[in-house]
Amino acid sequence: MTKHTPNLKAEKISGGVHTDVRHDSAHKHVAGTAIYIDDMPEPAGTLHAGLGFSSVAKATITAMDLDAVRAAPGVVCVLTAADVPGVNDISPSGMQDDPVLADGVVSFHGQPIFCVIAQTRDQARRAARLAKVSYDEQAPVVDIWPLDIATDKQVATPLTLKRGDVATALATAPRRVKGRMRLGGQDHFYLEGQVALAVPGEDDDIIVYSSTQGPTETQHLVAHALGVASNAVTIEIRRMGGGFGGKETQANQVAALAAIAAKKLHRAVKLRLDRDEDMVATGKRHDFAIDYDVGFDAEGRILGVDYTFALRAGFSADLSGPVGDRALFHCDNAYFLPHVEARTALFHTNTVSNTAFRGFGGPQGMVGAERIIDEVAFAVGKDPLEIRKLNFYDPMGEAGERNLTPYHQKVEDCIIQRIVAELETSADYAGRRREIAAFNANSKYVKRGIALTPVKFGISFTKTESNQAGALVHIYADGSVHMNHGGTEMGQGLHLKVAQVVAEEFQIDLDRVKITATTTAKVPNTAPTAASSGADLNGMAAQNAAHQIKVRLIDFAAERYGVPHDQIEFLPNRVRVGNQEIPFNELVRQAFVGRVQLSAAGFYKTPKIHWDRSKGRGHAFYYFAYGAACSEVSVDTLTGEYVIERTDILHDVGRSLNPVIDIGQIEGGFVQGTGWLTTEELVFDDKGRLRTHAPSTYKIPLASDRPKIFNVALTDWSQAYEPTIHRSKAVGEPPLPLGLSVLHALSDAIASVADHKICPQLDAPATPERVLMTLERLKGQAAATP
Ligand code: MTE
Ligand code: MOS
Repeated sequence: MTKHTPNLKAEKISGGVHTDVRHDSAHKHVAGTAIYIDDMPEPAGTLHAGLGFSSVAKATITAMDLDAVRAAPGVVCVLTAADVPGVNDISPSGMQDDPVLADGVVSFHGQPIFCVIAQTRDQARRAARLAKVSYDEQAPVVDIWPLDIATDKQVATPLTLKRGDVATALATAPRRVKGRMRLGGQDHFYLEGQVALAVPGEDDDIIVYSSTQGPTETQHLVAHALGVASNAVTIEIRRMGGGFGGKETQANQVAALAAIAAKKLHRAVKLRLDRDEDMVATGKRHDFAIDYDVGFDAEGRILGVDYTFALRAGFSADLSGPVGDRALFHCDNAYFLPHVEARTALFHTNTVSNTAFRGFGGPQGMVGAERIIDEVAFAVGKDPLEIRKLNFYDPMGEAGERNLTPYHQKVEDCIIQRIVAELETSADYAGRRREIAAFNANSKYVKRGIALTPVKFGISFTKTESNQAGALVHIYADGSVHMNHGGTEMGQGLHLKVAQVVAEEFQIDLDRVKITATTTAKVPNTAPTAASSGADLNGMAAQNAAHQIKVRLIDFAAERYGVPHDQIEFLPNRVRVGNQEIPFNELVRQAFVGRVQLSAAGFYKTPKIHWDRSKGRGHAFYYFAYGAACSEVSVDTLTGEYVIERTDILHDVGRSLNPVIDIGQIEGGFVQGTGWLTTEELVFDDKGRLRTHAPSTYKIPLASDRPKIFNVALTDWSQAYEPTIHRSKAVGEPPLPLGLSVLHALSDAIASVADHKICPQLDAPATPERVLMTLERLKGQAAATP
């Protein structure tokens, strides 16, 4: 025990909140020592699974001869739909439209129809190729482009958002433009593909190590497929090698198959898809067809918009309903739409069932909003940035009427004006716009373009029950802390942030807090780590748990030392009790001896939010995250190839829990969004076969594709409008649509070949091929108009 020295207030713990701390596993990620599921030591006798896939998109299976598969070397057994002991369904929507294994009918090319279990993975995969399956084929529905909202099949109930009187607004608007945009999907391309290792226990127990973002849902669906109660199933995940939404529901089938095999054979079973299988057989970002009809005045102020967002759901509902909803929630982006009607069409197709992907439909909604802005700008002959600023929601504090969203939530925390104004200056938008015009006038074939686009992203799950979280914190008698919570780590730094929160609460150095694997046995009934809310929810729950223990320690110290509560204070790594200081470890040891409970379960639920889907109204989001990006590109107009010359980003994360981690999320989100909108193209042929199922044909951004100059900054003045965890804001998804600045910069460069008189209507992904076609079309149009 040391005497209290009062001048140490400025001293801080290492690794507390609002400080730069590298990812806890960064060194392990690069050294190959981070343990992913496929790196775990395998239990003795582990068997390996391989899948048999449908070779057609829509058919009835007339015969399935698996004799050669069963006779193949190393094969232990073959599972078909008949071997599912419980319900043959892993549908997350409860619609029972997602079989574990196809039963009698197949609904897309690449659908799993049987599962081979063998001594080795190679044997299982080779054996699966020996099946003889006969099909009675029907014509598949593949593309949504020709589908009709009135007559074609949808997978779930679509949504309409409505405010004001859009028909009158459009009919009376001085100017009006209608159009249609095609917007591609995206493969998650996580580094670690889908994988599960199932280890059977006694009775009906099973533990499944699953690369899942949603352990609770995986637990329930595995239990459902096994026909056992959820208490028999434990799901554990230390980390994923990337999820990006692709492991929110898509992990369930792999987990269920491994579990079914393990239970049947009483052996551990591992199933890991390879890249091609993963790309063909698991869901992706939805591609969209966006129809818009916008009315505006001569200045370029939007008066009314009618939108239809049609998406390719694939063969089942999965998350298509909520993804479509979130597209509508972001069809305004940062703009006030005085009269609006927007609807989704959730088209059923004979393709893999599309799913969550970073932004969850939100980015697709924003693409519609930004296309409209370009249309209006070209129609009135102004710089698109001027039209953007003209249509922003009213700034925070102004109780005007220009702050109502299409879902009737008031935007109370709008800071987009300030962000855009600051970025416009720091990126020298006006100066570079002039330079680019001069460059283009003198450059025959290479043309430059620039665009500055905003992002406003709503934070909360729209499914209210998902906005809850739990945590479990123990302090062991030596003073070391064990932290667990319901969120999952996929590279985003969630565990680190939550550990920082716990360290801050106890005022101990970060390295005293142990990060542990997520498991349904420690924290039950959790939401998937999604909707960017991982740190918001689990940070609060963990803080709540730590706080309970802290209160007990204070009570203990007060009694033991006979000191009033207000004279007990947690200082860095020690506690001041009256006029003496006790090391944290020492106080913990004393509390243990004094029989104080040093473990607590924490809980949090997001306040304020509500959403009535049937009425299309509610306070759907707790708050909004904002950002803006300014990108400049140069395009070779002879080939359509392009380079991102420079990108400047200013993004709002409130009071950042960890600025270096957040900058990493922003850089990664921007690059992933840019890949989606430029080079990543999913091509299905008319038989419904995905032709781009490997990096040879599907081009994700390379390190060399990043902007040549890349300036990323956080707003250093913003803080969350609501009392979020340490006033930080979510960061996982909101930066992805910053990639829109590149799409619009490309559009700007293209427009220069027609003297900026014609809106290029560039569809996405803007591959070099599509850029070239758009250039040629524009040159033709320019030649035809005098
Ligand atoms: N960052 C990395 N490195 N890997 C990922 O898989 N997923 C994104 C985002 N950032 C992802 C990522 C998605 S889709 C979401 S919803 C959030 O992280 C989830 O984590 P959070 O809620 O903790 O931000
Ligand atoms: Mo993220 S798409 O919400 O997993």
